[in-house]
Amino acid sequence: MLRRPVFAANWKMNYGPTDARAFAAAFAARWTPRADRTVIVFPPALSLSTLAHALGGRTDIAIGVQNIWTEAKGAFTGESSAAMAHDAGARYALVGHSERRHVFGETDAQTAKKCLAAARGGLVPILCVGELLEQREAGATEAVVLRQLRAGLAGLAELAPDVMSAMAIAYEPVWAIGTGRTATPSDASAVHAAIRTALVERVTDAANDIPILYGGSVNAGNAASLLAAENVDGLLVGGASLDAESWAAICDT
Ligand code: PGA
Repeated sequence: MLRRPVFAANWKMNYGPTDARAFAAAFAARWTPRADRTVIVFPPALSLSTLAHALGGRTDIAIGVQNIWTEAKGAFTGESSAAMAHDAGARYALVGHSERRHVFGETDAQTAKKCLAAARGGLVPILCVGELLEQREAGATEAVVLRQLRAGLAGLAELAPDVMSAMAIAYEPVWAIGTGRTATPSDASAVHAAIRTALVERVTDAANDIPILYGGSVNAGNAASLLAAENVDGLLVGGASLDAESWAAICDT
């Protein structure tokens, strides 16, 4: 694998500050820093600052925010900006997670703005893309994924290629998220290859630096085979990242 593998834990709406502190203690005790991989934890926004403090000197464990708003500040009740997340300790931002798209109705146009807002606020955007089951069954997987990808990248188009390439993509088939069903390594590989081709077309050579993560019911048992698949540069993990021991086992893949 050319790119350093990325292991990203998406806690979703789990773990307030007290639980986040306990997780940090358990994971930091169990996990030995490894220079050959990137480990990122995405807590709920309310726990971000606590987690950052609890991890203290553990600069090998990065923190990300699960969602940001498109603007820098103002009358957007309930939202947080990229700069605020950065101030609280985040260095990455998930953008366009399937739950944002399908539970909260986030559009491609919003993901484009959020990618740009993240980059401008000093956060590395991780743009999430993925098809619904009916889209896969209709043979539309690539069309959907590449539409979402191009829309997100369009938001970054005004940035210089080297800035634009400071991002990651996460392919998460919606039917695999939280269901116990994963894409096979070869299915994941095929979609990742299509994403890679589209990235190279859009971002040119710098696109080869962009890691493409797989997500959707990843656990300690299937992590190795997914990560071994061609074009899979990392894993985005929900449920199995909530337990410090299981998360450490996945990060050790
Ligand atoms: P899951 O979630 O691992 O629980 O399927 C992945 C995600 O939504 O990022």
